[in-house]
Amino acid sequence: MRGLASSLLVLVAVAAAGGVAARETVGKTAPAYAPPPETSKFVAAPGVEAAQRYCLTCHSADYVSTQPPHMPAAFWQNEVTKMRNAYGATIPDDAAKAITDYLVATYTEPTRGGR
Ligand code: HEC
Repeated sequence: MRGLASSLLVLVAVAAAGGVAARETVGKTAPAYAPPPETSKFVAAPGVEAAQRYCLTCHSADYVSTQPPHMPAAFWQNEVTKMRNAYGATIPDDAAKAITDYLVATYTEPTRGGR
């Protein structure tokens, strides 16, 4: 019984300390941090401006360039649709079409080459 009582005491003490630690972080600012420069870029080709404008707000271009090289055109069509419908990307229809055409022309075998 004594063992249980002291265990409970320790638990209460730990919980209280946790509460204090959590409160101490409120109001503190995060340390200054400069992210490293972005090195990943979309391949220059017709339509790249639309991709740069609408596809870099949430993640970098390597989400595109690291996809397997043999993906069919439908894959890119589905990706653009998924970004808009599932992830909430706000892309006008004409830009979405331009981006899809760009991705198919640039990142699909056999257009992709060594990229
Ligand atoms: C509103 C935010 C947002 C925008 C804008 C956006 N994406 Fe994404 N994208 C995501 C999220 C979230 C994921 C999933 C990330 C993860 O799983 O870690 C993702 C993942 C991806 C992937 C990896 C494969 C996959 O399906 O998970 C590709 C390729 C991709 N995005 C392409 C694009 C392209 C092309 C555009 C421009 C048409 C775009 N994204 C714009 C949010 C966005």
